[in-house]
Amino acid sequence: MTYSVAVSGASGYAGGEILRILAAHPDVEIRTVTAHSNAGQPLIQHQPHLRSLAHLTLSQTTPDVLAGHDIVFLALPHGQSGQYTDALADTPLVIDAGADHRLVDPTAWDSFYGGDFHEPWTYGVPELLIGGGAKQRDRLTGATRIAAPGCNASTVSLSLVPGVAAGVIDTRDIVSVLAVGPSGAGKSLKTNLLASEILGTANPYAVGGTHRHIPEIRQALAGAFPVDGAGSAGGDAEWTSLADAIRISFTPVLVPMARGILATSTAPIAPGVSDDEIRAAWQDAYGDETFVQLLPAGEFPRTADVVGANTALIGLAIDRAAGRVVVVAAVDNLVKGTAGAAVQSMNIALGLAEGTGLTVNGVAP
Ligand SMILES: NC(=O)c1ccc[n+]([C@@H]2O[C@H](COP(=O)([O-])OP(=O)(O)OC[C@H]3O[C@@H](n4cnc5c(N)ncnc54)[C@H](OP(=O)(O)O)[C@@H]3O)[C@@H](O)[C@H]2O)c1
Repeated sequence: MTYSVAVSGASGYAGGEILRILAAHPDVEIRTVTAHSNAGQPLIQHQPHLRSLAHLTLSQTTPDVLAGHDIVFLALPHGQSGQYTDALADTPLVIDAGADHRLVDPTAWDSFYGGDFHEPWTYGVPELLIGGGAKQRDRLTGATRIAAPGCNASTVSLSLVPGVAAGVIDTRDIVSVLAVGPSGAGKSLKTNLLASEILGTANPYAVGGTHRHIPEIRQALAGAFPVDGAGSAGGDAEWTSLADAIRISFTPVLVPMARGILATSTAPIAPGVSDDEIRAAWQDAYGDETFVQLLPAGEFPRTADVVGANTALIGLAIDRAAGRVVVVAAVDNLVKGTAGAAVQSMNIALGLAEGTGLTVNGVAP
């Protein structure tokens, strides 16, 4: 079967990356692409690297235009998706790259985003541990509404869930510092993202606990506690109280690379835990995974190794002098951080081979 697909936000970075991956996917036909201010223009004018899709024209994003497809991808600014999702009730599979359906807790939504709260959808990070040894992949099988992750959020969550699930780190003192590329902020013009503002410098932003991905990380990490099945797809009341047990200091730093995230996360080692037990937690979590890979001891990832790849590379160190576990993760924000996660989740939902259309290989140098 070939699934018909519509991609909204197709003139933007996330929409463009969804299209790049789907263009090589054997089971889909990209029928409709939509935009907002650029509607009516050829797609190729905004995505000149997508040569095989040069025949497509950007339509206006309306419920009518998006309806009638087997799968709809929403890649819109946060706060915009909700208005379309209600109108897409008959669409078999809708995948939102935005934040509108990620959070379970309305209070967290109010604090970090504001505006209308929309119901949480199945979270699109298949490799996340969700308690009891299960993974988020189990919830994605047959899912009809999927919330693709925030790129920084999924990078930090994948870095730390093995330690949370195994009880080898103290979740009340997590520190994450991330080097991030400006494509994570989207394609629309912003003064602070001009080349003259970002080349040759590193710029911290959203310092001091204000970044919007913080509640998403706390939600995912809380879901990895080994309690009876509470997790990131449900509305379980356990969530909000468990999230109180996750304290994270999160600081992103904008650096001059078009795409990529290098996240360094540290947390105290739980009392009485051996080095072997710590490494085993990550090895057991990811040893069988294709797209999340633990590097050998002493090796740490570079962002260049994952550019264009649906791969999260993770390096693990145990700093006994500091009493902390150190996890360094590299992810392409537009692939494993967004579009790749969305397509991987789509594959699982539809019962296709999970890696269809996706690659583990990056583009380096
Ligand atoms: N960039 C990333 O690394 C990344 C990672 C994870 C998640 N996401 C999420 O993906 C979504 C899109 O992000 P992006 O980085 O692709 O942003 P972007 O490059 O700025 O693209 C935004 C897209 O949305 C369209 N749009 C803008 N306002 C709209 C409106 N009011 N109604 C309908 N469409 C509208 C734009 O169309 P026009 O160009 O025609 O105006 C454009 O196609 C966001 O929710 C973001 O949080 C992005």
